[in-house]
Amino acid sequence: MKLLFLCLGLILVCAHEEGNDVVRRNFDVSKISGYWYSIFLASDVRERIEENGSMRGFVKHIEVLSNSSLFFNMHIKVDGKCTEITLLSDKTEKDGEYSVVYDGYNLFSIVETDYTDYIMFHLVNFNEEQPFQLMELLARESDVSEEVKKRFVKYCQRHGIVKENIFDLTEVDRCLQA
Ligand SMILES: *[C@@H]1O[C@H](CO)[C@@H](O)[C@H](O)[C@H]1NC(C)=O
Ligand SMILES: *[C@@H]1O[C@H](CO)[C@@H](O)[C@H](O)[C@H]1NC(C)=O
Repeated sequence: MKLLFLCLGLILVCAHEEGNDVVRRNFDVSKISGYWYSIFLASDVRERIEENGSMRGFVKHIEVLSNSSLFFNMHIKVDGKCTEITLLSDKTEKDGEYSVVYDGYNLFSIVETDYTDYIMFHLVNFNEEQPFQLMELLARESDVSEEVKKRFVKYCQRHGIVKENIFDLTEVDRCLQA
């Protein structure tokens, strides 16, 4: 246990030294509300995020409700058509963690954000088959810096996601016109 805390401490020190106001805990969730663009999407089950995959969602807007739940406005493509969906996710007891029922039961957390440029989410889906992971990088603009993209890719790889399962959504139709 002591070693665990030492490791956590070191991670926090490193995170702090990196500067540029990256937040990895004690999130001020009110600051994540507003418009977002989906930049990268990754999963260990590729089919879920491929064309026509149920989890291939493009986030458009997040609203933080007064009871701390998050209200997501998203687009998915159904039969090639951009379709708007809304998802309500309730806060769990853990900092930055939420649950939502969609194609199974999902738990997701904020990995890191600077509120003004980007946010990374890490989701685990529990369904009748095999649980799977999904990571998504959102940005306030339609694209984001290479540095942030690289950090996201590294994060995914650290969690066992191979490069081929990390999709660059800036190269596909994200239903921005919808
Ligand atoms: C939070 O508020 C929304 C909107 O009023 C509601 O639908 C949702 O069930 C609430 N969540 C909790 C955990 O109370
Ligand atoms: C996705 O669905 C559309 C419409 O049904 C279809 O034309 C397209 O071939 C599908 N794409 C894949 C990769 O299955």
